[in-house]
Amino acid sequence: MKLPQGSFLSSARIGTSDELQFAGMAILPIMQGMPAGEELTELLHTEEKERAAAFASESRRTSFIYGRIAAKLAILEVFPEAVAQEINIVNGAIGEPVIEWPGHEYSVSVSHSEHHSAGLVFPTGLLMGIDIETPEEKNRSIIPSILSPDEMELVKAANNSIEFLHLLWTAKEAAGKANGFGFRLPAEKYEIETEVSVNHDGVRYFLSRFKHLNGVDAITRNLGGAVLSVAFPTGHYFQDQVIRLLSIQPMEKDPVF
Ligand SMILES: CC(C)(COP(=O)(O)OP(=O)(O)OC[C@H]1O[C@@H](n2cnc3c(N)ncnc32)[C@H](O)[C@@H]1OP(=O)(O)O)[C@@H](O)C(=O)NCCC(=O)NCCS
Repeated sequence: MKLPQGSFLSSARIGTSDELQFAGMAILPIMQGMPAGEELTELLHTEEKERAAAFASESRRTSFIYGRIAAKLAILEVFPEAVAQEINIVNGAIGEPVIEWPGHEYSVSVSHSEHHSAGLVFPTGLLMGIDIETPEEKNRSIIPSILSPDEMELVKAANNSIEFLHLLWTAKEAAGKANGFGFRLPAEKYEIETEVSVNHDGVRYFLSRFKHLNGVDAITRNLGGAVLSVAFPTGHYFQDQVIRLLSIQPMEKDPVF
């Protein structure tokens, strides 16, 4: 299948179980005002197409379609034999994506920014979530409203970089999706206690540990053009696996926070 330029697919072993299990990830550039293309749209289930058609807002329809396509591509990365059209991703009571795919104990997480969509598939039972955002100056005045004084100190130490602000934002959103509550919990619940830089094969990743969330960390990568976070169960084992999952080509040369 031909994917638009700027798409990324990856998979990595995930989990501590003896059984071989994988996580898959897909990132897709969103062409606002442009349909995703017939081949990609055909990955959608009939019900997903009907849901898409029912959105009154053009931008919501676009983000829904691209998000579902990214989720399907992530699934195909792990299960190349899967028939994407037969998999229906619905939304649960609090908006969480739920896969209707009998016989498969896998879950998905979905994100869409103005310019990208991201999908993550992982074994059910693991706390995982994905978030992607375009680092934009217009968010500079919005993001601090969800940051604590200590987090603002971290931002200052990072020279008030717009990318670093988005790092904190996406790490929190990814963690909110992993625990399923999102920002229904107060913002303080997602306070980041430490930011640790992790170098792997010459690429800099950031590990966020949360002060009040037990059992979930997040790894963030600046891809240039997009900041991407994946939340995962705390622990070195998972951390290395998620870094492997995020070992994709950057969109721009040598982006840093
Ligand atoms: C869920 C939330 C983390 C989504 O983050 P976001 O950056 O706004 O949007 P993203 O594009 O990254 O993610 C959207 C996807 O998150 C997923 N999602 C929504 N609720 C979710 C939940 N409770 N758990 C996990 N994933 C969820 C959905 O798949 C959604 O895409 P879809 O509707 O096309 O299926 C966040 O919006 C939130 O906390 N919402 C609940 C609180 C609320 O309603 N606030 C109102 C605005 S202040």
